Amino acid sequence: MLGIAVLGAGRIGKIHARNVTAHPKAKLIAVADPIADAVNPLAKELGAEALLDPFAAIAHPDVQAIVIGTPTDTHAPLMLRAVELGKAVLCEKPVDSTLAKSQAVVDKIAKHDAKVMMAFNRRFETSFAEIRRAIEAGEIGDVRQVIISSRDPGMPPPAYVAASGGIFRDMTIHDLDMARFLLGEEPVEVSAIASRIVDAELTGKHEDYDTVMINMKTASGKQCHINNCREAVYGYDQRVEVFGSTGMLLQDNLRPTTVRRWSADVTEAREPLLNFFLQRYEQAYAAELDAFLTALVDGTPLPTSVDDGLLALKLAEAALESVKTGRTVKL
Ligand SMILES: NC(=O)c1ccc[n+]([C@@H]2O[C@H](COP(=O)([O-])OP(=O)(O)OC[C@H]3O[C@@H](n4cnc5c(N)ncnc54)[C@H](O)[C@@H]3O)[C@@H](O)[C@H]2O)c1
Repeated sequence: MLGIAVLGAGRIGKIHARNVTAHPKAKLIAVADPIADAVNPLAKELGAEALLDPFAAIAHPDVQAIVIGTPTDTHAPLMLRAVELGKAVLCEKPVDSTLAKSQAVVDKIAKHDAKVMMAFNRRFETSFAEIRRAIEAGEIGDVRQVIISSRDPGMPPPAYVAASGGIFRDMTIHDLDMARFLLGEEPVEVSAIASRIVDAELTGKHEDYDTVMINMKTASGKQCHINNCREAVYGYDQRVEVFGSTGMLLQDNLRPTTVRRWSADVTEAREPLLNFFLQRYEQAYAAELDAFLTALVDGTPLPTSVDDGLLALKLAEAALESVKTGRTVKL
């Protein structure tokens, strides 16, 4: 049994803490969050210690591994402290809010025999994992194009946006990681366009956008297109298409059931999409935690690393640079 502390008792911290409690290889020792009203009920529900100081949770003698689910601009110091104390880390994406800050912490982490996994949960989602398996098995020949549509049901709260690093580093980062996962090669060219057409208030407050499109190319010519919007009135839209020399793989949206309905007014009506990430990726978060704990217990390599986090962040910042300059960015 590994003793775990979860840092952050917000949206994602709750998921991780509940998954830790349900996992046979783990014991939730503590949950830490400076907001007592957030941490106390969660810790009570799960029978763990409630701490207001995340550094006390990291230093807790019964804790061997840390799950970081705090706002993006707090990740680096927490991750580093855990590594310095020899604790394993599963850290939410992105590494931190800028590439420079992330690179600096990764350089420091490299001086330790660290076990740090980036929480790119979509890699562990059953269908996306199957797409990757099918590509590796050669079922669609050589990959030519990857098309990713990823739209949220609505804007996150302003405080979340402020600490998020902006849409490319916060939201597109999942799709950039998925692009790397499915292309099997690193993109070397990135061009992007970005708009504020959902929330004009974003102007001036943060350097941020709500609607973006990115095109990328690898050295061998494989292409990827990503489109994101912070608001889709019909729900959480998550689709992936991979086109290859001998076929295509397509993952559509998921619904609670596959029932289709006909009436005088509509045909082929279906239930709303699984909405939002908590529901759509419920299985993936549990599988991600299982992969982390299993690798720690078995002493095998972690399935993702801070380097994956840095490479995705590099693409995010290249997209931002392309928006600002109006040019294709070469990496
Ligand atoms: N993988 C995913 O699908 C996914 C989904 C949502 C969020 N995230 C990531 O998870 C992180 C948190 O996002 P969220 O949506 O849960 O945010 P949230 O605002 O809902 O929760 C964050 C919590 O962290 C607490 N907190 C702030 N500073 C802290 C500190 N220093 N130590 C401990 N707790 C602290 C806050 O009080 C809050 O309760 C972000 O980095 C975000 O990018 C990932």
